[in-house]
Formats: sequence, structure tokens, C-alpha cells
Amino acid sequence: MKAIVCTKYGPPEVLQLKEVEKPTPKNNQVLIKIFATAVTASDCIVRGFRLPIWHPMGLMMGLALGFKKPRQPILGIVFAGEVDARGKDVKLFKTGDQVFGWDLFPAFGTYAEYKCMPENGMLAIKPTNLNYDEAAAIPYGGLLALYFLKKGNIQRGQKTLIYGASGANGTSAVQLARHFGANVTGVCSTANMELVKSLGADSVIDYTQEDFTNSGELYDLIFDAVGKRKSPNLQYKRALRPNGRYISVDDGSPKLHCKDLIFLKELAETGKIKPVIDRRYPLEQMAEAHRYVDTGHKKGNVIITVGT
Ligand SMILES: NC(=O)c1ccc[n+]([C@@H]2O[C@H](COP(=O)([O-])OP(=O)(O)OC[C@H]3O[C@@H](n4cnc5c(N)ncnc54)[C@H](OP(=O)(O)O)[C@@H]3O)[C@@H](O)[C@H]2O)c1
Repeated sequence: MKAIVCTKYGPPEVLQLKEVEKPTPKNNQVLIKIFATAVTASDCIVRGFRLPIWHPMGLMMGLALGFKKPRQPILGIVFAGEVDARGKDVKLFKTGDQVFGWDLFPAFGTYAEYKCMPENGMLAIKPTNLNYDEAAAIPYGGLLALYFLKKGNIQRGQKTLIYGASGANGTSAVQLARHFGANVTGVCSTANMELVKSLGADSVIDYTQEDFTNSGELYDLIFDAVGKRKSPNLQYKRALRPNGRYISVDDGSPKLHCKDLIFLKELAETGKIKPVIDRRYPLEQMAEAHRYVDTGHKKGNVIITVGT
């Protein structure tokens, strides 16, 4: 099968199209024929891993992923596709089921035509109203935003600010916060204001024109969906109500649950959340897709179409 192999850590050019052996499912696994995957911010962090091993994060990542090159050389964590075959003990899925999901760190392997997953992994029937490209745009931002908004204990009627409302996390967070009944302010750059409004934000602040922490508005919940590496040093405390909470996408590793993936599927099917796709690239142009995501300014998701 065709796959994109990460030959070593480094710039996008380390990603190369190769013929590799098609995997065979174990007794408890399904073999998925992948039709779409996405290039996520996390994929780019792994590919470009450059932290020295004396750095605590560098040591941790090196131990988990491999020091010179990734032990699992096919990167990619989200996918949408079809069950192509199954192991003899599989009960939850049948051949031909249209599925979508996320393979838990550090398995990866979605930059390929086929991938095996345990039937009880982060895998669900895809939303019936979405095509494969659209379905692949749901799990990453959706699961992360859901995890962090729940961690922030989002409540109906709360004044909530999503910082970085136009990325994969941000576009999902705006829609989910609206679904939970919050009053949502999105912060993004000028070019993305219309997009963020169209996702249901009650108001939008252009961070190139205005620092929201100086406006005098106070919030019950502030979610930094961009992460500290890219966000300016937010003086967020002065924009919080007395019992307000600040959460950041960098605050620890999320615990993801399959029931949340099913919850997102149901929200997609009822039109409560919509996939946001910036660009599509064929598998062969993976390096180019990574180059674009490396800019840190994608809108929602960058989708890779596979084997169609
Ligand atoms: N904690 C964890 O376990 C975990 C897991 C996965 C991911 N993450 C983190 O989640 C973060 C976000 O992921 P993502 O996929 O949503 O990223 P993304 O899609 O690449 O985010 C891009 C968005 O960020 C916005 N942005 C860039 N610089 C900004 C700034 N200075 N101020 C405001 N907005 C800015 C851009 O908007 P403009 O173009 O308008 O500037 C763009 O729309 C990553 O940093 C990743 O490391 C954490």
C-alpha cells in the first residue's frame, strides 16, 4: 500500500511517499481503508521534533516516540474510511461500515491507505450526513475542544471567550460552547472574523486591532485554543470575573473517550457542529500540506485525501 513515511525528524521534506506492507488485523482489530486524514498541529510537532534530550519534554517525547526518528514511521492520528476486513473476535463493526476516529498516541499510522485499529479503540460509525473529507475534520478539534470546555466546567449562560477561534480547536470550541448555551466571544485575526461569526459566535474580536484584556469586558471562562507557544503572554486574569476560569490547550494531556466521539457524531448529524475545511491535498502532497500547517495560520482543518 502507499504510505507517507517520516524518515527522520525535521522539515516537511522528511515525509516521503513509499510502498509499504499492508497491515493484517489481529483477532480484535479491524482493517480500515482510509479515504481521508488530516494534518494536525500535533503531527507537525512530532515531525519537527527538535527538543534536546536534556530538556524534560525532549526526554519524554524521545522515550515515547524514538530519539532519532519516530519508531512508528507512519504519522497521522485522525481518519475517515471504511472497514475493509476484521479479526475473528470483532463484534462491534462489520466489513463495509463507514467509520471515523483517532488513533491514540503514539500509534499514529493514518497517513496511509490502510490501518488496523482495535474495535474498542477511538472508532465510531461516521456521521451519515458527512463525506469522508468532512468526517476527518471532526475528531481532532472536536475531541480536544470538548475535553477542555468540560475541564473548564462550561455552563449555560456563561460569558465565554475562545482565544484563537479560527484553528481546528477554536472552530470546534466556538460551536461546542454555543451548543452548551454559553454566550461566545471569539478572538481571531481580521481575515477570519466572518468565519468565526458564521460558526455562531455572539461577538468577535480582531486580535490585530484590539487586546481583549484591555476592553473592560469580563468573562466566566477563557479558553486559549492556540497554546502558549503561539499566544502572546495573555494578561487574562484581568478579563476574568471573580470566579472565572482560564484553561489552555497546553494544560496537560487530554484523556479522550469514544463516547465523546459518538457525541460529536450526533452533533454533526443534527447540524450542531459543522466541519471547517481550509484546504485539501492528495496523499502525494503531504510535505506541502505540512508546510502550510507549519505557518500556524490554517483555518480549521487541512484534509488529505487518500486513494480515491
Ligand atoms: N494538550 C494537549 O494534549 C494537546 C493535544 C493536541 C494539540 N494541542 C495543541 O493545540 C494547539 C492548537 O491546535 P490547532 O490544531 O487548533 O492549531 P491550528 O489549527 O494550527 O491553529 C491555527 C490558528 O491559530 C490562530 N493563531 C495563530 N497565532 C495566533 C495568535 N498570536 N493569536 C491568536 N490566534 C492565533 C490562527 O489564526 P490567525 O490566522 O487568525 O492568526 C489559526 O487560525 C497546538 O498548539 C497544539 O500543540 C495540545
